[in-house]
Amino acid sequence: MYLRNTWYVATRSSDVARQLTPLTILGEKIVLYRQEDGTPVALEDACPHRKLPLSMGSLKGDHVICGYHGLTFGRGGGCFGAPTQTRVPSTATVRSYPVTDRWGLLWIWMGDSEAADESTIFQLDNYDNPTWGLSRGGTMSCNCNYLYLTDNLLDPSHVTWVHVTSFAGGGTEDTPLEIKVKDDGVIVSRWMRGREVPPYYAPLVTFEGPCDRLQHYEVRYPSIAINKSIFTPAGTGGDESNLPDNAYVMISYHFLTPVDENRTVYNWLQNRNTDPDNREITARIAAGARNAFEEDRLVLEAVHSGMANRSTPYLDLALDAGSLRFRKGLQALIDRETTPAPMAATA
Ligand code: FES
Ligand SMILES: [Fe+2]
Repeated sequence: MYLRNTWYVATRSSDVARQLTPLTILGEKIVLYRQEDGTPVALEDACPHRKLPLSMGSLKGDHVICGYHGLTFGRGGGCFGAPTQTRVPSTATVRSYPVTDRWGLLWIWMGDSEAADESTIFQLDNYDNPTWGLSRGGTMSCNCNYLYLTDNLLDPSHVTWVHVTSFAGGGTEDTPLEIKVKDDGVIVSRWMRGREVPPYYAPLVTFEGPCDRLQHYEVRYPSIAINKSIFTPAGTGGDESNLPDNAYVMISYHFLTPVDENRTVYNWLQNRNTDPDNREITARIAAGARNAFEEDRLVLEAVHSGMANRSTPYLDLALDAGSLRFRKGLQALIDRETTPAPMAATA
């Protein structure tokens, strides 16, 4: 069960060019390509004649030609040619999906096309801010349900055990968590005071000595996570609207796209408030993040398998409160989409 009337990241913009590119999102087979002017196109990857994947055909101009008998389709899913026929059958159409490029990513609307509104695509603050440094991040396939990833990205405590050499640090195991439930998702956060800067961030922060550290773990419905880390000199943290000039801010954005119930494609990028042009720092941040996310992937794939094949009950801990609220909120939105509106009363 998925939320459909929303934008998902299909892939990175640079991964779709003038070739037929098949992928699966929410269990649906889709073919992507770009028209000659660069406009992205997403179509159902099945010819309406004998269901050969259109991705096995060829691209000619702005159209895709089925590789079996030549039915030819374009951007809106309409048929532009049926070479074996005197006329095009009226039922020769495929589903088309709204797609658009934003933030170096290709976004796809999986629900009712009429409801697609580009103004609701996730807003990435400071993306074009010349004083911020962007690491374009990476992509990873995970053999787990996407909700294990959203659980993980609302769980600041796991860093103590999963990311020992990077994000773990004093206070990550036992400082109390604050949970905020919002209309668009859930935030789990905490400030940890007077601690040592953890290994991943130590070469990046611009001040010496102990720090105050914010862990801000937020997931927006259905599956975009914002992971904000703020470090300030000890004694100066706590008010996000009034940070000292030497505060170090890094925001990781995680875009989770369900392939199906058992697989997720995970795209991420990171933005920091320092060193916009320092490629060495950008590369170090990117490599460190990939290592850490690999650590998550190993755990979450094993969790998926363990939960799917369990022979004894599982339990929840206090640290799960944020992710359980998120799952509940998401399920309510999915139910609202899938429950038919009540019939109007008749006299
Ligand atoms: S299967 Fe596509 S035209 Fe026959
Ligand atoms: Fe993690």
